[in-house]
Amino acid sequence: MDFDKIPPRKEIEAVTVYVPGKPIEEVQREFGLERIIKLASNENPFGCSPLAQQAIIREVENAALYPESLAPALAEKLADRLGLDPDNFIFGNGSEEIIHMLTRSYISAGNEAIMADVTFPLYKTNVMIEGGVPVIIPLIDGVHNLQGMFAAITEKTRMIFICNPNNPTGTIVDKGDLLSFIEKVPGNILIIMDEAYYEYVQDEAYLETIPLMAKHPNLVILRTFSKAYGLAGLRIGYGMMQPSVRQELIKVKEVFNANRFAQAAALASLDDPSFVASCVQKNIAGRKYLEGELNNMGFTCFPSHTNFLMVKLDRSGDEVFQALLKQGIIIRPVGFPNTIRVTIGTEQENREFIAAMQKVIWVRN
Ligand SMILES: Cc1ncc(COP(=O)(O)O)c(C=O)c1O
Repeated sequence: MDFDKIPPRKEIEAVTVYVPGKPIEEVQREFGLERIIKLASNENPFGCSPLAQQAIIREVENAALYPESLAPALAEKLADRLGLDPDNFIFGNGSEEIIHMLTRSYISAGNEAIMADVTFPLYKTNVMIEGGVPVIIPLIDGVHNLQGMFAAITEKTRMIFICNPNNPTGTIVDKGDLLSFIEKVPGNILIIMDEAYYEYVQDEAYLETIPLMAKHPNLVILRTFSKAYGLAGLRIGYGMMQPSVRQELIKVKEVFNANRFAQAAALASLDDPSFVASCVQKNIAGRKYLEGELNNMGFTCFPSHTNFLMVKLDRSGDEVFQALLKQGIIIRPVGFPNTIRVTIGTEQENREFIAAMQKVIWVRN
């Protein structure tokens, strides 16, 4: 048999490959540009805490040794901070990997998982890889349609993904609505709250979900060190859940998934809350500036509670993406046909992005 013809599992035939933000190096090569500004992957433009950097350097001498499989020091510290037990925590090579563990443990062929459209695409991908059926409920004005999601529950439903705040719209679901949703959903369905942008949220209408875990054992909360903590390159995120759910995930997880440097840097980051607080403040100022300038150009944005903005344009997002690329600025043409998503950068990056947008508009008009 010809090697190329070996058939893959049928479940992955329809799976589309995730397209990440275009890497800086690729744009430099393609366009022969020296300076590139990447506002495409919601990374932290202010880097990470110096304490994290020192911890990584200190850890180098242990590079030959495997890391601890369940990151107990990190679990203990987070448990202490968040009022949970260490055995409520599981760590992943990014929170993305915990999504994978959840579907691997809980989705069999034909099971359904409810999620929004548009939202983080890897929920759908991971459900499909296991042979599950993604049940897609469109957002309403960029916000999760909780009523629609509840109405979509069937006997086959195993999990519901709520991305709060939602990527790529940046919106949150209202506290009261979410609370009554959580209270209504049958206890044999996992409610997976993806809170990757939790640290950026300042709004009173945002629901704190950790206190609900005791009463709702079907609640799983995902967070990450990739965004406000600035450790995207190290890949470490965590899930909070009942120990019994965690035990199922441990069965399917890669043994040494969270590497030594990631564990050490995440641990040290937790000792530098002022770093995160200053990133959050700068992010708010940058977001306000960008939104104001975009409004002046005649564009509106979904109300964002994150480190990115989804901009509604009067033309194709792809066209604007290509035009910005030529000027060395990488954003993402995601969401709807006439939208783009832009990460909030440093003050300088934000100014350059606005100047480039002005050129794009001027050329076309
Ligand atoms: C909503 C959401 N969830 C999860 C992730 C995965 O993050 P990581 O794997 O870096 O923790 C991302 C990354 O962009 C995201 O936007």
